[in-house]
Amino acid sequence: MDEHVSTAEKYDKVWRGGIYGGFSKNTGGERKTPLLADLIRRLSKKTGDKKVLEIGAGSGVHSLQLLNAKDVFVSAVEHSSIAVQQMKRLFQGRKNIKVIKADMFNFLMKSPAGHYDAVYANAVAHFLSMSDRKRLFGLVKKRWPRTVFFR
Ligand SMILES: C[S@@+](CC[C@H](N)C(=O)[O-])C[C@H]1O[C@@H](n2cnc3c(N)ncnc32)[C@H](O)[C@@H]1O
Repeated sequence: MDEHVSTAEKYDKVWRGGIYGGFSKNTGGERKTPLLADLIRRLSKKTGDKKVLEIGAGSGVHSLQLLNAKDVFVSAVEHSSIAVQQMKRLFQGRKNIKVIKADMFNFLMKSPAGHYDAVYANAVAHFLSMSDRKRLFGLVKKRWPRTVFFR
């Protein structure tokens, strides 16, 4: 089994256990990070429609805030079906977000270069092994060299 799949499956178990949903929804200090504020500021300065990809979006607390920037469309990718269900409930009726159940590595490999104005992830990369982290950065950098907001 791929290393990144086993990491995602570990998360699936935590989500299914019902503990993580609450943690991710009530992320305390994590809810507002300087990086997220910086990204929202930058997006708000840009005119026209903007597309943001959030990977490992969890319960969607960060995607929800990204939607506050004007003319932003968010694609929120998440592997856990429980988290995806939560996000679908949270974003029901909103037209400027798409929730996608996928493995982020597979999703990134299929995404065309330049399709997003920014790629964002909070608390995702540092739970990966070094080799998966390198692979993730490599995949993102290759397609969107200047638009990466990882924390
Ligand atoms: C520490 S949580 C952070 C969640 C959210 N970004 C936040 O800050 O609340 C990491 C998230 O990444 C997701 N994840 C882990 N591996 C993944 C993969 N290969 N593809 C998609 N999502 C993944 C997990 O299911 C989990 O929801």
